[in-house]
Amino acid sequence: MINLREGKYFVQHRSVESLVEQYGSPLYVYDGNKIEEQIAKMRAAFSGVSVKLKYACKALTNVSIMRLMLKNNMDVDVVSIEEVQIALQVGFKPGQIQYTPSGVAFSEIEEALALGIRLNIDSLNLLEWFGEKYGNAHKIALRINPSILAGGNYKISTGHADSKFGIPVEYLDQILEMVKKYDLQIVGIHQHNGSDFKDGEVIVKAMRISLELAEKHFPNLEFIDMGSGFKVAYHEDDHITNIDLIAQDVVKEFKAFQGRYGRDIELWFEPGKFLVSECGTLLMTCNVVKHNPTRNFVHVDSGLNHLIRPMMYDAYQEIVNTSNADTAEMEIYDVVGYICETDTFGKDRKMPVVQPGDILAIKNAGAYCFTMSSNYNSRRKPAEILVYNEQVHLVRERETMEDIMRNQILVEL
Ligand code: LLP
Repeated sequence: MINLREGKYFVQHRSVESLVEQYGSPLYVYDGNKIEEQIAKMRAAFSGVSVKLKYACKALTNVSIMRLMLKNNMDVDVVSIEEVQIALQVGFKPGQIQYTPSGVAFSEIEEALALGIRLNIDSLNLLEWFGEKYGNAHKIALRINPSILAGGNYKISTGHADSKFGIPVEYLDQILEMVKKYDLQIVGIHQHNGSDFKDGEVIVKAMRISLELAEKHFPNLEFIDMGSGFKVAYHEDDHITNIDLIAQDVVKEFKAFQGRYGRDIELWFEPGKFLVSECGTLLMTCNVVKHNPTRNFVHVDSGLNHLIRPMMYDAYQEIVNTSNADTAEMEIYDVVGYICETDTFGKDRKMPVVQPGDILAIKNAGAYCFTMSSNYNSRRKPAEILVYNEQVHLVRERETMEDIMRNQILVEL
């Protein structure tokens, strides 16, 4: 989260120049207090019911960010055995870790269960294998696919009929058969239908499907888990999630359900983007400004190796020139990376004139940015810093050449 004050950009009390001077470029910067603000917003919005928030740590898996979540009494949603291990190392108790795997090896499930982790089951095969091996020894939740198209981009839409995720609701009979056969303890119904929802009605519509299943077939539930997908503003004019408005409808619907169900159960969400997207900024330095006959290019010291969302999802990420903010002289640029691919961060961006050495900032770089980075072109990953209560913490070292060479074996041929 960067703020413009009197022609200069700051993260809390620190100017972006001073951060780059101290920690180098490119640099991921996270504002910890912004994360707390988002957590509070979500809790307040859903305060009418017993809401539990499980941070989807795939969005930003840095251990210090996860520690901040723990400090704020968050639980965590994980999607791999590696994330399970990280969450345990951060200090989450096994009971706070909900594992939502997608088509992983059964050995990974066994490992997680042995550690006391709770599981969302997302295929009929897995349900069968689980039943055969564990019967009613563990409480489990079912991830269902409600056949609803939602999400900002097809690649991040996960609840539609052609998606690989969840057990299609159409297979209810088979689910119930297995529940009976293995005496399964189903304590939750889970859905996650996509990221970047624009409309709250989608959540209500999807939730109704889970609530109906609960009422008709699953009398022993402890929770309904509605995953996440709450959109944040990537663009100034973006239609974003109005969390209070959505919550009003959701809470009303959920309360009415509890009346019919005969008791209060928990409502879970697994927010990633909503909590950590806006807190993050990628600071980069302009290497070269290139004027071609048809376009102006700003080349920065980063690329799709550090932030791939625009190239992968055609996602819009706002970019500002922090070094020249108070000039009236504007120019239109394509902001591009240094990777040998067409790695365009932003096309036709109007901004104060850029010169080599200027620091550019990509906003909304907290969620799915560092965690989706790679070493393509043998480039090193940036450092990450966390600014929290006006203190700056280095939370990941910049990679070194040794990191790039680690694990590679040069054989004499
Ligand atoms: N729960 C489950 C089971 C998920 O798969 C996800 C995200 C979440 C929760 C969190 O959703 P969120 O609050 O962040 O929307 N890389 C893409 C987003 C992929 C989301 C994957 N699953 C992007 O950069 O837009």
